This record gives sequence, structure tokens and C-alpha cells, in this order.
Amino acid sequence: MKAATRPKYCSPNALFITELPIPTPKENEILVKVKATTVNRSDCGVLTGKPWLIRCFIGLFKPMRIVTGTDFSGMIVKKGKQVKNFNLGDDVYGFFDEGLCSHAEYVCVSIKTAILKKPSGLNYEQAAASLEGAHYAFNFLNKVDLKPGAKVLVNGGTGAIGNAAIQFLKYNGAIVTATCETDYIPALKSLGTDIVIDYTKEDFTKLNEQFDFVFDAVGKSSFSKCKPILNPNGIYISSELGANWQNPLLAIISPLMKGKKVKFPLPISIPRSMAFINDIIEKGKFSPLIDRTYRIEQIREAFEYVMSGQKKGNVIIVFD
Ligand SMILES: NC(=O)c1ccc[n+]([C@@H]2O[C@H](COP(=O)([O-])OP(=O)(O)OC[C@H]3O[C@@H](n4cnc5c(N)ncnc54)[C@H](OP(=O)(O)O)[C@@H]3O)[C@@H](O)[C@H]2O)c1
Repeated sequence: MKAATRPKYCSPNALFITELPIPTPKENEILVKVKATTVNRSDCGVLTGKPWLIRCFIGLFKPMRIVTGTDFSGMIVKKGKQVKNFNLGDDVYGFFDEGLCSHAEYVCVSIKTAILKKPSGLNYEQAAASLEGAHYAFNFLNKVDLKPGAKVLVNGGTGAIGNAAIQFLKYNGAIVTATCETDYIPALKSLGTDIVIDYTKEDFTKLNEQFDFVFDAVGKSSFSKCKPILNPNGIYISSELGANWQNPLLAIISPLMKGKKVKFPLPISIPRSMAFINDIIEKGKFSPLIDRTYRIEQIREAFEYVMSGQKKGNVIIVFD
């Protein structure tokens, strides 16, 4: 089978398409013929081993898994004896941020991993695109007490996290303002965004209104810049550590003080995120933004594009 491999942490130009034997599932594993996977920002961390902190989970000196890939959708073609809740021919999708070796034609996955049957309303590409960004977006929402009518600003509405956050917020009855560049204003409107700010023309931190929450889905702003647009008990959450890695520290210190606060969206449970994502898909309230589709042979290009920070939603990899 074709698989994207690298023996050590590297940039995309040292990633190779290699022929590997199809793996055999252990007793508690399924073998999935991968139909679609994505290249996402977690994959970039898994490929490069940066930021360094990530190596505590994926291999200190070299990657524990030589095949890249953190998510997939596909069909079960073999299963181990202990697997009872999945059948051959089932369409499934799954995600594990530390790596699943899913940039390959076949992948063996333990049933203890976050895998679910694919909702029938989504094709394989849409299913693979519903995982990584949506998981992090859900981990913004579950850090706050979101009430219907809450005013929320999403910075970076065209990102994988941003577009999922907008849809989840609208599902929860929030009033959403989001930023993007000029060409994507209609796309954000179609997701239900109430007010779209063109960030190339207007600085959202200078808006003359206040929000209950600012979700900085691209980590390009900061708590200090957003303070003027937060209401007196408003909360700032960023997907990034901050220019000086200040966001986790502020998340510890700011709850000790009165007023505006920072929370850090440490993603806790992928199965919990997936249960939410699956439910909202089944209700027809979430459809991930998809940018480009590449073939597995073009995976270097896909990584380079994702690392440019300009992808709109999700970048898909297909095999056939
Ligand atoms: N904390 C975690 O565990 C975790 C996990 C995954 C990702 N992340 C981080 O979260 C961030 C977002 O990830 P993602 O996958 O959602 O990113 P992404 O899909 O690569 O999003 C980038 C998007 O943001 C837009 N953008 C860039 N600068 C902007 C700005 N100043 N204002 C508004 N929009 C802007 C880009 O559009 P234009 O090209 O039009 O500007 C692009 O569509 C990344 O920095 C990533 O490293 C964190």
C-alpha cells in the first residue's frame, strides 16, 4: 500500500510516498481502507515535531510512528476477534491528534480510539474534514457557559477551527461576529455568521461594541488587544500559546482576579468531541468548509499549503 513516511522529524520536502505491507489488525483493531484523510495543523506538528512540547507525546528524539496522518474516513475491510460493535463494510471515521498513520491506503485502528460510524449524510471527504478543527472548536465552547443570545466574536472564521466554531455557536443560539478576508464574506454568511468583518479593511479590536466571548481561532490577536471589546466579565480564548506563550499563564492568573479572563482550550477528550460532532452532523447543523483536494502523491504540496497558514477550512487527501 502507498503511505506517506518519514523516519525523523522533518519539513514536507523530506516526506516520501513509500510502498508498505498492508497491516494486519490485532484482536481489538479494525483494518480500514482509507477513502479520505486531511492534512491539518496537528499533522504539521506531528511531521515537524514543533512546537517541541509535542514531542513529549509523539516521540522525544524521533517520531514513534513513521507514517503521518491523524484522521481518516473509510471502510472496514478486516477486524480482530474482540471487535463486536463494528462490522465488515461499515463506513467509519476517526481522529487521534498524536497520530494514526492515516496518510496511507490502509490503517489499523484500535476500537479504543475515537472512531464512529460515518453519518450517512456526509461523503468520505466531508467526514474526514469534520474532525480535527471541529474537535478544537468544541474545546473552545466547552470552556465557557454559553447561553442563547451570547455575543461572540470569532477571529479567523475561515480556519478549520474558526468555521466549525461559527457553526457550533450558531447551533447554540449565539450571536456571532467573525473575521475573514474580502473574498470569503459570502462563505461566512452562508455558515450563519450574523456580522462579518473584513480583516483586511477593519481592525475588529477597534469595534465600538462588547462581546461575552472572543474566540481567537487563529491566535493572531491577544488578550490585551481584545480587552476593550470584552464585556466586564468577558472571556478571551486563543488557539495559540501567544507571542510569548502568555496565554496558558494568563489562564491560570486571570481567574484569581475580578473582571475579564483568559481561558486556554486544552483539548481533553476526543471521544467527547466526536460524540458532539456526530450529533450535530446527524441534525444537519454542521458541514465543514473544504478548501482543496490533493492525491496522496501530492502530499508534500498539501503540507506546504497548510503550513502557509492560508487554507480555508480543510485540505483533503484522497487515494483513487
Ligand atoms: N491549541 C491546539 O491544540 C491547536 C490545535 C490545532 C491548531 N492550532 C492552531 O490554531 C490555529 C488555527 O488552526 P486552523 O487549523 O483553524 O488554521 P487554518 O485552517 O490554517 O486557518 C488559517 C485561516 O485563518 C485565516 N487568517 C489568517 N490570519 C488571519 C487574521 N489575521 N485574521 C483573520 N483570519 C486570518 C486565513 O485566511 P487568510 O489566508 O484569508 O488570511 C486562513 O483561512 C493555528 O495557528 C494552529 O497552529 C492549535
